[in-house]
This record gives sequence, structure tokens and C-alpha cells, in this order.
Amino acid sequence: MFFSKFSAFGLDLSDLSIKIALLKEAGGHLELVSFGRQEIPENVIERGVIKKEDELIALIKRAVDEVQGQKIKTQHCIVSLPETESYIRMVQLPKIKNEEIPEAIKWELEANIPIALDDIYFDWQVIDKTSVSENQLNILVGALPKALVDPYLSVIKKAGLKPLAFEIESVATVQALIKDGTSQEAIMIIDLGAKKTTLVIFAQNSIWLTTGLSVSSAELIYDIAKFLKIDQKKAKNLKFKVGLDQEEEQGKVYQAMEPRLVELVNEINKYIDYYQASKIAKPGSRQNISKILLCGGGANMKGLSAFLSARLKVQVSVGNPWVNIFTSSSDELPEIAFGDSLSFTTALGLALRGISESKK
Ligand SMILES: Nc1ncnc2c1ncn2[C@@H]1O[C@H](COP(=O)(O)OP(=O)(O)OP(=O)(O)O)[C@@H](O)[C@H]1O
Ligand SMILES: [Mg+2]
Repeated sequence: MFFSKFSAFGLDLSDLSIKIALLKEAGGHLELVSFGRQEIPENVIERGVIKKEDELIALIKRAVDEVQGQKIKTQHCIVSLPETESYIRMVQLPKIKNEEIPEAIKWELEANIPIALDDIYFDWQVIDKTSVSENQLNILVGALPKALVDPYLSVIKKAGLKPLAFEIESVATVQALIKDGTSQEAIMIIDLGAKKTTLVIFAQNSIWLTTGLSVSSAELIYDIAKFLKIDQKKAKNLKFKVGLDQEEEQGKVYQAMEPRLVELVNEINKYIDYYQASKIAKPGSRQNISKILLCGGGANMKGLSAFLSARLKVQVSVGNPWVNIFTSSSDELPEIAFGDSLSFTTALGLALRGISESKK
């Protein structure tokens, strides 16, 4: 824009919510200047597919207009989509010349994803520090189907915004949770959203694996409703209020959720084993998953970290989406409650990307 300094906010779109976060740099540190959350009614977006375009446009406009904090003046944004079909893989290639990389990646994509190259957007990044040997290149490749992105691009433009980039959700989440984007240990991140759960493995300076898990908050609420023979609304209240506290409600809420959480534990274990056994874990660095960070609204559930720690025998804790925003403890805490900020992890990661884009 003409006189205001260039800025871009994070726009995290999910099936059931729109989340916004805008960071600003002031005096050498970052500040959260605007944030907001707008619920999306059922049936507007179904499993990532836009069903009611006009309604979604109106909701996005409202979300931008009604943020808390400073009014948003920029139209620029970094967007994440409610994707389940994103492709993100670490590709290992023999050391080739830089100019040969794009062609090699195209081959790799054609061999590994069920969609034609013309029908996807893709991006890649050489992960240099992780080379297993001198003769190998590790390249992180991300791809999104055009059929998914294009309708969102159109809706976002019609809402009066200018998307600078689309970011895969898990990439944004990692940007928020991993301090300075590097970790000597392998870390697993689990994003517990409303409709889906995503698992990410991060080591050194890159994502190595991402996958969707079948267990979600919605299903846990369903289990509580069924077990206690109550409606969804009451069940949701109990999930929030009681969580996994066995002392309350005669342990019934716990009992209702336990089978599905055990299923979640089994799924997580499968990926821990897979990562630790597979060639993608690198020699010369610690290969075991040393800790698990939880994020997303579902991470707020009482007793969840302890439940998972005990069963997975790995330290599980709630992630801190402010690690790359507040560098000293004296930095001012924003008005957003910490619990709410777990829901904003992806949006904050997008906002951080907004900061780096503005410096380009
Ligand atoms: N205190 C709490 N206890 C238990 N569950 C909670 C609590 N707070 C939020 N949740 C759960 O978090 C979910 C919302 O999380 P989040 O805001 O991360 O979802 P989302 O990003 O909109 O969805 P998705 O990422 O699946 O598209 C709700 O479904 C709710 O059940
Ligand atoms: Mg989410």
C-alpha cells in the first residue's frame, strides 16, 4: 500500500472456522496486532469442498472486519486451506545440478501422486543440512490439487483480498511451533482440530512426514453423546469441562472417549515405529522421536497430554505457538488466552510467513 508498510495477515480456513492473525514488527520484536475467529456453519464447506460460495465470501469479509485489536487495513494474506489431499514428501535424489532439479521433481511427482502434473500446484525446497551423504539431495516437495485451490482463490478474491501465497497447513503449524525452524531432536506434532487430526514429524530443519489421522474432536463428542445418551451440545460441554478427568461424572466421560483415544495411540505408535525404522531417519542424528507437541483446539482437553504420555512412553506436552513471536519473557502477552492460542497455531504460523514475505 501507499504509505503504510507492506504487511500480510494469516488466514486459516477450515471446514468449520476462519481464523485470522496479523503480526507486526515494532522496535525489533513482533507483536500480535489483530486476531479473530469466525465460526462457519455446517454445510458451507464439506470436507474442503465449498458448497455455499456466497455465504463463505460473506463470512470471510465479516471475519476480517470483526477482528480484535487493530483494524485490518491490508488486503494481503497468506492462506491455508482445509486440505486433506495435500501431498508433502521428502524426496531423496542423487546429487544433480540445480537446474536439473525441477525436471527430477516432476518425475517424482508423476510417479507418486494420482493426479496429473497439469492439475496440481507444487513447490519444493532443498533441505541441505540433512544430507545423509555428499551424494544425496533431500528435497521437500509440497503439492496441492488445482481443483482444490482454485475455488478458494476465487472466493478469497471476491471477498476483496489478495492472497500472496497458499501454505500447506502442517508447514504453517511447524513455523509456529518449532523454535527458529530447527531441532536437533526428532519431534512429532499432532494438530487436533474439529474435523481432523494431523500428524507431522519434524527433525533438524525440515518436515519429514505428514499424515492425517482418523480420530477427531467431532468423533469424541459423538462417542460421549452415544455413551451417556445425551445430545451433541451437552456432550461437547462435557468434553470441555470434564475432559479425561476420571474423578468427575463417575469416570463416564473418560470411559466414553477411551476406546477412540486408544485407537489414536495405536495410530501414533505406528508412525513412530515407521519413522524410526525407515531410511528417512538420518544417521548421525538422534533418530528417536524425543517428544510430541500437541496443538489445535483439541489439545486443550484436560488430561490428554498425560494420557498420551503414559501410553506412548514418549513425553507429550502442549506446544507453544509463541516461540517464534516472543523472544524474551518481557515481551507483552497478547489479549488472547493461551488455550485459545493453541487453536490459532496455524494462523500464527501463516502470520509469521506474512512477516517474512514482507521482507522479500
Ligand atoms: N477445552 C477444550 N477441551 C476439549 N476440547 C476442546 C477444548 N477447546 C477446544 N476443543 C476442541 O477443539 C476443536 C476446535 O479446534 P480447532 O480450532 O483447532 O479446529 P479447526 O482448526 O477449526 O478445525 P480443523 O483443523 O479440523 O479444520 C473443537 O472441535 C473442540 O472440540
Ligand atoms: Mg485447524
